[in-house]
This record gives sequence, structure tokens and C-alpha cells, in this order.
Amino acid sequence: MKTETPTLAPDWDRIRADFPLLAREVHGKPLVYFDSANTGQKPAVVIEAVDAFYRRHNANVSRAVHALGAEATEAYEGTRARLAQHLNVAREDLVLTSGTTFALNLVAYSWALPRLQPGDVVLLTRMEHHANIVPWQLICERTGATIRVADLAPDGSLDLDALYALMAPDVKLLGIAHVSNVLGTVNPVAEICREARKRGIVTVVDGSQALPHMAVDIASIGCDFYAFTGHKMCGPTGTGALWARREHLLAMPPFLGGGEMIKEVRYEGTVFAEPPHRFEAGTPNIAGHVGLGTAVGYLDGIGMDAIAAREGDLLAHLTEEMDRVEGLRILGRAPRKAAVVSFLVEGAHAHDLATLLDLEGVAVRSGHHCAHPLMAFLGVPATCRASLAFYNTHAEIEAFIAALRKVRRLLG
Ligand SMILES: Cc1ncc(COP(=O)(O)O)c(C=O)c1O
Repeated sequence: MKTETPTLAPDWDRIRADFPLLAREVHGKPLVYFDSANTGQKPAVVIEAVDAFYRRHNANVSRAVHALGAEATEAYEGTRARLAQHLNVAREDLVLTSGTTFALNLVAYSWALPRLQPGDVVLLTRMEHHANIVPWQLICERTGATIRVADLAPDGSLDLDALYALMAPDVKLLGIAHVSNVLGTVNPVAEICREARKRGIVTVVDGSQALPHMAVDIASIGCDFYAFTGHKMCGPTGTGALWARREHLLAMPPFLGGGEMIKEVRYEGTVFAEPPHRFEAGTPNIAGHVGLGTAVGYLDGIGMDAIAAREGDLLAHLTEEMDRVEGLRILGRAPRKAAVVSFLVEGAHAHDLATLLDLEGVAVRSGHHCAHPLMAFLGVPATCRASLAFYNTHAEIEAFIAALRKVRRLLG
């Protein structure tokens, strides 16, 4: 597929230097940014691409025949093409959105709402983000369909036998995270989608936490819909996309109406544009998507396989060190994990831990991570989460562990 395979091993120190923000201090300490699952940092090329767009090319897309309009449209459509190549799909099947949340709501309102009926079931897993729960609840309330939930094994991986047993004839749709934002579990989505397809179940994969960490070939996953967000993969906030099988896009009514998504409007009725533009009403986040295209080019320049290997090394180091900290418990030990580690320290509230770590310059997230049902399953109100990216270093892991030990003593 598309990911370039650079011949030389990446120079990770040089790559880290591409991220200006990582050089700053917090509370007088060097920043250790371990919150990339929340949002990723941006390399200078992405920041510069957004800046250059506004300085030199700014115009609306698809509306003007003048030179700037053509440049803006070319840059915006260039991102669609670049994403398509990165994900091994056709560009016409990629709807650019403000992120995963919008993409999943688009599937919910345009695909599911007109189709689901009383008695139908939406199958979800216990590890879903609220963005892959709440839209389905809203649709179920309106259609009379219900939600069924597949449980997890104690290590935080999906219990596949249990999942397949739940795929009864009443299940019309499966919503599943490719990678859990809390546990780091990488789900075998290709196998799961194959099983679902055999049973006539439409599959919606939430790829938010997969794309930053690994090469994703949507064609080989075999899903019906794949949603993702740009800001976790070095791109600007307010960017992302939904990929869908062409047959679905052609059959789906628009989600939002307005400019850009029409062929012809009369008061008697409107002829809509072909997909993907049918689903892109209004002026989009043009500059943000130009930045996302640059981000994808940047990631491809390093190589997603090299990124996955680097993060695998960092995760192994981090896990080994955390296991040595007395009283620390890691939640999520699936055999295939991305560099996302939720943890708790005996006797300390997750928020207190994160606040004290922040004073040491370490940024980790604490809370429910937009996954209340998973917290309930784990039997905790909140966790701390250290989430890494390829720009993190082994030295930062040492600094994090030293800070953790200090904070533990303080909380004593
Ligand atoms: C697994 C998962 N799904 C969905 C989302 C929502 O992404 P966004 O807020 O960019 O729409 C996130 C973001 O945290 C996520 O981690």
C-alpha cells in the first residue's frame, strides 16, 4: 500500500525537533507530553502549511473561478487525494468532516436513522468512546432499535467468541473502535468485520486512535464505514473524515443541507451533488484540511511502520518501568496494544495524581476519557492515562517514572 518505506532508520532526535511545542517548559520543568491520545502535537511543517494557506492562498473552495479560488480548491482536494492514498481507498468515497464525532453522527443520521426499526439492534463494545455510543442512543430513541454491548476479557481485549455470539439476526449495525483510547487495545477489526459481513451486519469502525499509530489499509479491513479525526495524527483540530462504501454513500440522504452540497436548487426541490460533496454542506475547514494533508505527507515521510515500531519500543519500556512502581496498577494488558497506558496508584485519586505530575512538567490525562461505560466495567470512576507518540523519548519515560515516584511519596 501507500506508506513509503524509507531506506534509512529514522533519526528520532531530529524528528522530535520538528515539533516546536515540545521544546517548552511547564512549571519550570521540561515538558513531558504524554497526552497524545487526547490531541497530538503538530510538526512545524503543518503549522507552516496552515500559515501559508492564510498568507498566500486563502479563498473559498469550489465557488470562485479566480486564481486563489482554484488554488484553495486544489489544496483542499489535494488532502482528500493524499488521505485516500494513505488509506488505500478511492478519494470520491472520503467525506471530509470536522472529525470523528461528526463522521459517526453522519452515519447515524444518514444511514441508520432511515433504516433502523423497532426490534433492530445496534451492537457496540464495552470499550467505545462516547462518540461511538451517544449518536446510536439518539438514533435508537427515534427508531425503537436497541443497543447491545459486547464485553471484554479481563486483560481489556474483546472477547471475540462472546462478540460473535451476540451477532444475532436482529443486529443491523456494529460500531467498534479500531484502538481503545483508554486501554490501548488494538481490535482485530478485519476479522471482526468479516464475521459481521457474513451475517449481513453493517460495520462502523472508529479509527480515531488507530491512524496516529499504524498503517491502516481500509480496503483490507473490509468495513462499511471508517471514521477518523485529524488532530490526533499531527493535523489541525476540526479536521477528519468518513470513508464509506460507495453503495452506502449513493443511497444515503444528506445529513446537513446548504451550499456546496447541491447541483441545483429550486423552491420546488433540490438536486444534490454526488458524494462526497453531498455530505459537505457549507464552507469547510479549508486551512485545517490543508494542514491535515501536510500532516499525512509528514507521517508517510517517516513511514507508518517505522512509527509503529518506535512506539512499540517506547510502550515496552514504559510498561516495564511502570510495573516497577509500587502500588501502581495498569488497566489494559491486551496482547496487541498501542502506546496508551491507563493506570491508577493505590490511595491516590487520578486527578490528584495528574495535577501533581503536571507540577513536574508531565502532561497526562485523568478522568473518564469519554468512556463512562468502560469506567463502570473497570469499577473505577477515573484513571490516569499516559499516551505516547513517536516524538516521545526514552529519556522522557525515565523522567515520567521519576516524577511518578516523587508524587507517590508526596501522596504517601
Ligand atoms: C476512540 C475515539 N473516538 C472518538 C473520538 C472523538 O474524536 P473527535 O473529538 O476528534 O471527534 C476520540 C477522541 O478522543 C477517540 O479517542
